[in-house]
Amino acid sequence: MNSSLAAVLFLFFFFSTNPFSLSAAAEKEPVLDTDGEELRSDRLYLVQPARTIPGSGGLGLESIFSSNIPCPKIVAQSQLPHLLPVFIHPVDSNNVTVHLSTDVNIGFPGIDAYCRSSNIWRVAPYDPFSGHWWIVNGGEIGNPGPQTLFNWFKIEKAAAGYKFTFCPSVCESCVTLCNDIGKYTYENKVLFGLTNQNGSSFVFAKATETIKQVVGKLSE
Ligand SMILES: *[C@@H]1O[C@H](CO)[C@@H](O)[C@H](O)[C@H]1NC(C)=O
Ligand SMILES: *[C@@H]1O[C@H](CO)[C@@H](O)[C@H](O)[C@H]1NC(C)=O
Repeated sequence: MNSSLAAVLFLFFFFSTNPFSLSAAAEKEPVLDTDGEELRSDRLYLVQPARTIPGSGGLGLESIFSSNIPCPKIVAQSQLPHLLPVFIHPVDSNNVTVHLSTDVNIGFPGIDAYCRSSNIWRVAPYDPFSGHWWIVNGGEIGNPGPQTLFNWFKIEKAAAGYKFTFCPSVCESCVTLCNDIGKYTYENKVLFGLTNQNGSSFVFAKATETIKQVVGKLSE
């Protein structure tokens, strides 16, 4: 083997097995929207399925009735006019840029008048009727720690686009399992909950003025 090839191989080996440099880079990497711009905590986005026609559908909220309790509502795949944009607030509020693999609060704007709750996402306790850990409304923003553990999500890269995970780092002494967020068809609705399979893939599209006006009217 000639010496320059050996050097190249050595460098490749060095860089591909240095976990410190890889994880440091991953922590700093911003999440990008469909325009290739950094995701910001001061904007609204439509969270759309990564593998369908761009602009088709997004997220909203649905009630299920198996337990006869329509609240909290569950984060669901949705279409206009029920589409809701999301905001994403990183735990580190010093930077408006949303980064991969960092704790974030996610929510729909406004409040849920029917359930008298926030529209901030959280992981609900295990639902014995459906057998799922649903993603529901009624969470809160900020106050990282054991009491808010179920309000924190992360955005990770997926094979196509991004996925959401529940894998909070806001409490060092808490023991939590990491799960992706995936979709389930239940009561003829497509609802999101924790999964031990690969999570659903999404892209983030800037919400248009039309969507913002609809939401503005809803929350007035
Ligand atoms: C905020 O994040 C962006 C993108 O990663 C980075 O370029 C910038 O330096 C950060 N700003 C601060 C104040 O940390
Ligand atoms: C899950 O994701 C991993 C990494 O992207 C991939 O290698 C694997 O094939 C996926 N599994 C399924 C069932 O899609």
